[in-house]
Amino acid sequence: MEIKSMFEKEVYIRRRKVLKEKMAAAGQSGIAIFIGNVEAPAQYKDNGYKFRQDSTWLYYFGIDEPRYAAIIDIDSGDESVWADDVDIDDIIWMGPQPSVASRAAGTGIDRSGAYQDFEREVVAAMSSGRTVHFIPPSRYYNAMMLRSMLGSAEPSVPLVESIVSMRLVKEDCEIEEIDRACDLGVLMHTTAREAIRPGILEQEIVGLMEGVTLSKGWGVSFPTILSQRGATLHNHLHDQPITPGKLLVVDAGAESNSHYASDFTRTYPTGGKFTPRQRDIYQIVCDCNEYAFSLTRPGMAYRDVHIAVAGKMLEGLKAVGLVRGNVSDMVQAGIAGLFQPHGLGHNMGLDVHDMEDLGEDLVGYDPDQKRSSQPGLGSLRMARRLVPGNVITDEPGIYFIPALIEQWKAAGTGRDFVNFDALKAYYDFGGIRLEDDVLVTADGARRLGHSRLPIQPGDVEDAMNG
Ligand code: GLY
Ligand code: MN
Ligand code: MN
Repeated sequence: MEIKSMFEKEVYIRRRKVLKEKMAAAGQSGIAIFIGNVEAPAQYKDNGYKFRQDSTWLYYFGIDEPRYAAIIDIDSGDESVWADDVDIDDIIWMGPQPSVASRAAGTGIDRSGAYQDFEREVVAAMSSGRTVHFIPPSRYYNAMMLRSMLGSAEPSVPLVESIVSMRLVKEDCEIEEIDRACDLGVLMHTTAREAIRPGILEQEIVGLMEGVTLSKGWGVSFPTILSQRGATLHNHLHDQPITPGKLLVVDAGAESNSHYASDFTRTYPTGGKFTPRQRDIYQIVCDCNEYAFSLTRPGMAYRDVHIAVAGKMLEGLKAVGLVRGNVSDMVQAGIAGLFQPHGLGHNMGLDVHDMEDLGEDLVGYDPDQKRSSQPGLGSLRMARRLVPGNVITDEPGIYFIPALIEQWKAAGTGRDFVNFDALKAYYDFGGIRLEDDVLVTADGARRLGHSRLPIQPGDVEDAMNG
């Protein structure tokens, strides 16, 4: 697999030009500032967390190095990059490094200066009455730096909206990278599936799986979820031995060297074969995953796909006797949220939950869409009307969460629809989630990656026993 971290400089020049045009079209003036991430110590300064660059910085500048900043002048169009060249003390430890000027040139910018002069430049612009646009910082260091430069100034909504409108629609070069991350994600999941056997610790499977992305890409795109206690949606504990008869939820993704994400979930019968009860519930989730994909196309609001899938799920749960009544009444009443307390999916790109640092609603909701307060639907992170180039996840799930079921029962929530007595037998069931990554195309959708992980129950069993 090719080691790659930056696109051609023309990509970044074009993106910044579009950004300036969007800001001007929105009637904005002044400067937009961008602050890349700095190294973060884990215990002490020289023992840091693995460096991960800020995604918006990567999108507009591509420089995958710590302690860089940039200014884009919306009025004059001027662009500048600010960072410090290494000195001999750095060279002793790090070896020779490209100059800041050459890295700036690599992204199509011919003006550069020292990092400390960035602050001077920004404060001078502000003092002369110019508007300083910035995005919400995702790291504390950047938040502190912004506060020291700009006091209590608020992030710029027009800048965030302009950036979101661009990053939501993936370019061909990005889709290529996401396909690459998905291929790596499929390899991770295949490795995990092949490692499942009685007695092996969940942690050992995690290690094998994460080794795959570390050997071919940047690492994981989020902390791995691999658990036989799948009713806990984001369970990061991997301390259980694999025990036949359970369900193992594996939700994991790769980050490519260019920092694009993948995010897949599969759920496995730990003994290699589903019990009839597991298979019934599994098939409902699998049908929901397929149904969501079949509805995904330009013009369709993903909120409506979520709601349609809730109906499909409730039909299935009704057939197995866990709910009763009219399905559209149940959808209206938000009953699906008892079983799937999360949304159907989210945007994905440079971040696994793309741009969530910029504000979930600004990213995932059209201006005329309001977030619901219902369980499940209220957690939907991507509700927008789909357009070609959107990259989203399709991740329905059914979970039996005893504490939540008991809470609904005690409060009388859903009492006309939910068969609380029948649910008692499911308190040790766990959960099932099935997740694919999807590109919205001109006339429909395609699943990302060049191959798809087995998902139909028979295919999963064949893969586990083959
Ligand atoms: N990996 C978390 C999610 O699927 O959204
Ligand atoms: Mn996931
Ligand atoms: Mn996801």
